[in-house]
Amino acid sequence: MSNPVLFSGDRFSIGLAPMAGFTDRAMRTLSLAHGAASAMTEVVNAAGLTHDSKRTFHLLETAENERPVAAHMYGINPTVMAEAARRAEALGRFDFIDINSGCPVRKIVAKGAGAALMGDVPRLAAIVRAIREAVSLPVTVKTRIGLTPDTCNIHELSAAVEDAGASCLFIHGRFASNKHSGPVDWELIGEVKQKRSMPVWGNGSARTGTEAVALQKTYGVDGVLIGRGAIGNPWIFREARAAWEGHEVAPRTLEELRTTVEAHLRDLVSLKSLERKYRRAGALAAETAAVMVLRPHLLKYVAGLPGWREVRRQLNDMRTIDEVMTAVDGVIGSQ
Ligand SMILES: Cc1cc2nc3c(=O)[nH]c(=O)nc-3n(C[C@H](O)[C@H](O)[C@H](O)COP(=O)(O)O)c2cc1C
Repeated sequence: MSNPVLFSGDRFSIGLAPMAGFTDRAMRTLSLAHGAASAMTEVVNAAGLTHDSKRTFHLLETAENERPVAAHMYGINPTVMAEAARRAEALGRFDFIDINSGCPVRKIVAKGAGAALMGDVPRLAAIVRAIREAVSLPVTVKTRIGLTPDTCNIHELSAAVEDAGASCLFIHGRFASNKHSGPVDWELIGEVKQKRSMPVWGNGSARTGTEAVALQKTYGVDGVLIGRGAIGNPWIFREARAAWEGHEVAPRTLEELRTTVEAHLRDLVSLKSLERKYRRAGALAAETAAVMVLRPHLLKYVAGLPGWREVRRQLNDMRTIDEVMTAVDGVIGSQ
């Protein structure tokens, strides 16, 4: 199954990009429920999976209705990556395994993983091969157009991972040296797509669903991943589906906003409650920890509404579901 239908550009293919610290079960479930074609976990350390790290396995918590979803992992050793993929597959919750070959965070790059794999294409290809041999799930790679403008090797990299049997390549159209800002080279992503027979998805800068579909059509890619545009805005996928199907969709209502924030927060509380330290510390500790995780999402949920600055002002004092929902009701009530 080297080119499973999941990645085909013939079907709706606007998915949620992986974002460490954001794309936990709660965000993924909401994105998929609002129409995302796929989602990926936060990045997990392959070695953590092979060492049975509870923290690492916790990052792979999924909901029953949360499909299709990838276990997104980083590592450097093909044998370890293959064993980690085997363990992820054994959980029975994942639809594909995605290899991180684009993360510029120093801690990961210093180990030779993440973005550093762009500088060692034979190793990246060996990782793809090893995982393919170990699991029956499709194997994909999320990468960038290169480490730096002087070392742009996306054509070489894409040929190598295709040859190694990757089912799809997700390309964030920036250099690792640009981190998360600067121009996104969609022309180059489109050129890679033209040269390859495996599906190629593009990523970077889509801030509305309509824009994501337009990028897909303009550059001829098989799909588009949305990252930051989906934070506090799962409706972006509903809009994308409507744009793909050629009709319009009503913007989210304030009632939907309220229901979604509450569902998001309650799922975060239930996730936190699974962690041993919060099981010990009690329900209130789990609730407070969940509110902390929600904070950056909450700012995006209410951004632009009259009164959102008041939410920002109160953010650091919020500890409970009631406090969050009172603040949200304040914003909604001022409409
Ligand atoms: C906070 C944050 C965390 C991210 N973590 C990851 C990650 O773990 N793995 C990865 O491949 N990309 C990661 N990315 C990159 C995104 O997947 C995406 O490529 C990038 O944000 C560009 O897409 P966007 O403009 O739609 O946000 C992260 C981005 C952000 C903003």
